[in-house]
Amino acid sequence: MSAVSRVQSPEPADFRKAMGSFAAGVTVVTGCHEGRLVGTTVSAFSSVSMDPPLVMVCLKRDSRTLAALSQTKAFCVNILAQEQGDLAYRFAKSGADDRFALTAVEASASGAPLLAGCVAAIECDLHAAHDGGDHEILVGRVLRVVTDETKTPLVYVRGAFLNA
Ligand SMILES: Cc1cc2nc3c(=O)[nH]c(=O)nc-3n(C[C@H](O)[C@H](O)[C@H](O)COP(=O)(O)O)c2cc1C
Repeated sequence: MSAVSRVQSPEPADFRKAMGSFAAGVTVVTGCHEGRLVGTTVSAFSSVSMDPPLVMVCLKRDSRTLAALSQTKAFCVNILAQEQGDLAYRFAKSGADDRFALTAVEASASGAPLLAGCVAAIECDLHAAHDGGDHEILVGRVLRVVTDETKTPLVYVRGAFLNA
């Protein structure tokens, strides 16, 4: 028997339920590819290292945003505020090309857009990309951060936004 076939896996629904009980912040990861703004909603975001400052995001292998960011090698992680639940759903809508239509943006040095009204924005250069099963793990080297401490972060847990 191979090592792989001996590994046990939980039922996908059980795994999803367990992971869904981990309350997470919500971000929109953005970039600028060949003059076109790209971005999508991502809750799989974490800090990795203080020195050097590194963060990570996990994107599905079929994500169009992943394809663009792999080329541009720069991205911005916009941490959403409590009142930005609609924006989170807009940037998660499959195949949508008008995600930026209702949102004011400011360009970072790489061109990756900072979204107006967020709790924080974290500008990164791509530091490394790792295999994450059906996702790709992008590690970003943090170049600049912007924080608005007057805003309350949006929280996603058990498939819904908290206090929405
Ligand atoms: C609250 C929330 C969190 C999400 N987190 C992630 C995530 O961490 N990684 C991911 O790949 N997709 C995540 N998604 C789904 C993507 O936003 C969605 O699949 C989107 O259509 C991908 O767009 P793209 O192909 O243009 O990149 C999340 C969606 C929602 C609503």
